[in-house]
This record gives sequence, C-alpha cells and structure tokens, in this order.
Amino acid sequence: MANYGALEKLGLAFLIAVVFYIVKSIVNLVYTYIIGPVVNKVDFKSKGKWALVTGSTDGIGKEYARELAARGCDIILVSRSIDKLKATASEIENDYKVNTKIVQADFSEEGIYERIAKEVADHEIGTLVNNVGISYSYPEYFTDIPDWENAISSMIKANMVSVTRMTGIVLPDMVKRGKGVVINIGSGSSIIPSPLLTVYAASKAYVDKFSEGLDMEYSKKGIIVQCVLPGFVCSNMSGIRRATLMAPTAKTFVKSAIGLVGTTSKTVGYFPHAVFVNVINSIHGTFGRFAVWLVTRSMETTRRKALKKYKVK
Ligand SMILES: NC(=O)c1ccc[n+]([C@@H]2O[C@H](COP(=O)([O-])OP(=O)(O)OC[C@H]3O[C@@H](n4cnc5c(N)ncnc54)[C@H](OP(=O)(O)O)[C@@H]3O)[C@@H](O)[C@H]2O)c1
Repeated sequence: MANYGALEKLGLAFLIAVVFYIVKSIVNLVYTYIIGPVVNKVDFKSKGKWALVTGSTDGIGKEYARELAARGCDIILVSRSIDKLKATASEIENDYKVNTKIVQADFSEEGIYERIAKEVADHEIGTLVNNVGISYSYPEYFTDIPDWENAISSMIKANMVSVTRMTGIVLPDMVKRGKGVVINIGSGSSIIPSPLLTVYAASKAYVDKFSEGLDMEYSKKGIIVQCVLPGFVCSNMSGIRRATLMAPTAKTFVKSAIGLVGTTSKTVGYFPHAVFVNVINSIHGTFGRFAVWLVTRSMETTRRKALKKYKVK
C-alpha cells in the first residue's frame, strides 16, 4: 500500500466500495427471492380464518384472493361491481372449496367504512390485503388532468383513505389475537421518477410510509406488515394485455410477491422489477437530469398516443 500514490489509493477505495455494493445487492436479492420464501413461509390460515382483499374482482387483487384461498383461507371480497363480486366469489368457492363473503363498496366514495366494519365484524380476519387503487387514465400534467376535482378526490380516497380506514377496521382484532398480516399495495411509481403521474405516485408514497410506520409499531405485537411496490403488471389499470418479462400477468406477479411475506417488509415483489428499479434509480442517482429527461420523454410519448386514441374514439 505504501507504494501507491494518493490517486491510486482513492481508486482502490472506490473499487472496493463498488464491489462491496454489488456483492451486498446480490446477497440481498438471493436472500429475498430464493432463501427467504423457503425459510420464512407464512401460514396465512393460522393467522385467522378469513382473508379480506379490497379491489378483488380483477388483476392483482383477484390473484391475491385466489392465492390466499389456495392456502386455505376463507375470503372476503370487497369491491365495486356486484356482478363481478358474485362471479369471483363463486369461482373461488368452486376452485378452492373455501367460504366467501362479498361486500359491495365504492372506495372513491365517502361514508362506506361504518357499513363495511359492520358487515365484517363477526369474522376473524387474519390477513388484510389493501389492494384497491385508482390511477390516471393516461399520463398527464397536473393541471390538465381531465375532470380534475373528481379524479384527484377519487385517487386520494381509493389510494390513501381506503388503506388507512380498512387497516383501522381490521387491525385492532389482530392485535388482540397477537397475530395477523397486512399487505398494502403501493406502486413502483413512488420510488422512481414519475412525472405526469404525480398525484398517483404521491398517493402511493403515502402507502409506503404508512406501511413503514405501521410495521415499526406493530411487528412487536405479532403483526406482519408488508408494502408491495409493483412495476408494470398486465391488468385493466395498466392497459397491458400481453405478458412480458417486465410486465408479468397478475398471477405470476402475485405468486412471487406473496412468497416474500415474512421475509421483507417493503418489496417490489418480483425479481425483474427489482432489477428495473435499481437500474432507473442508479441512472437517476448518477445522471439525475438525464434520467428525469428520459422518463419525462417516455411519459409524454405515452400521453400523446393516448390523446390521439381518445380523439379518434
Ligand atoms: N397493474 C399495474 O401495472 C400496477 C402497477 C403498480 C401498482 N399497481 C397497484 O395494484 C393495485 C391493483 O391494480 P390492478 O392493476 O390489479 O387493477 P385492476 O386490474 O384495474 O383491478 C382493480 C380492482 O379494483 C376494483 N376497483 C377499482 N376501483 C374501485 C373502487 N372505486 N371501489 C372499489 N373497487 C374498485 C376493480 O373492480 P371493478 O372492476 O368493479 O371496478 C377491480 O376489482 C392498485 O392499487 C394499483 O395502484 C398496479
């Protein structure tokens, strides 16, 4: 070491830091996605007979309901359309031979929580999946969001109020029993630059922070709290129909994410999304303005295409 000049020592220290960072990231990913799901497997049924999923008749929510039913839980479906609720309930009962209960509720409305609380009061809920969420119909500048007041208010109510109020309904009983699982579905948009989705991404940042605090307060009382921050997943909301590695089906996504409960309290839920978020954030950290320009350009292109489509329609 004595023969090295100051610059070489600095270079060596930088190299060691980079290698350490890469090794740490690899170990972390291997533990989270390979070892953790085997050694920390959660028995959801032992947490309580029922699992409640909001926004559960399609996409990610429906797959959580199916996965929890496959693990032996009876399922409470809370969602908007009564026909879809009935169809999903009977599909789950037939496929998994479990009981279901449906509760119709529109999370973009106020004043639904007293009724929901009454309807689920006599059920031992061991798992709560706060999945319901509303996004923009297409990426748009904040002041130009169509039907501004209504859109903003619906997003805040469905994305933030629902998570808070549903947790308030279900958590006290879990705490009394000393066990339970709360899974909150956030979005990768809150942890990478997300221009033209500002309100949605900010509302999901709330879900992330809310989950973090809840985990700190209640993990010592036997409650597992997990925040899932997905990247693109095929669904009505994303508008993506054909599955790819970076945009899996909801089934593939949930199979991966649910395996991480008990291993990590905050996760993107799916290995390729973890790589994507790391790459974007590394570019953002190193070339801040370039990353923002790149993302903004891509969102503006999506916006232009969407507006063209709306005009044609
Ligand atoms: N898909 C993605 O790429 C992606 C990425 C990141 C995060 N997420 C998050 O994942 C969650 C699920 O998204 P998804 O893509 O699976 O959505 P989705 O396929 O569009 O399904 C949404 C579900 O929520 C219900 N729902 C919608 N608005 C509702 C309301 N106001 N009140 C009650 N129920 C309502 C829908 O029922 P109806 O059909 O009856 O309306 C449906 O069951 C959301 O929180 C979303 O922000 C999704």
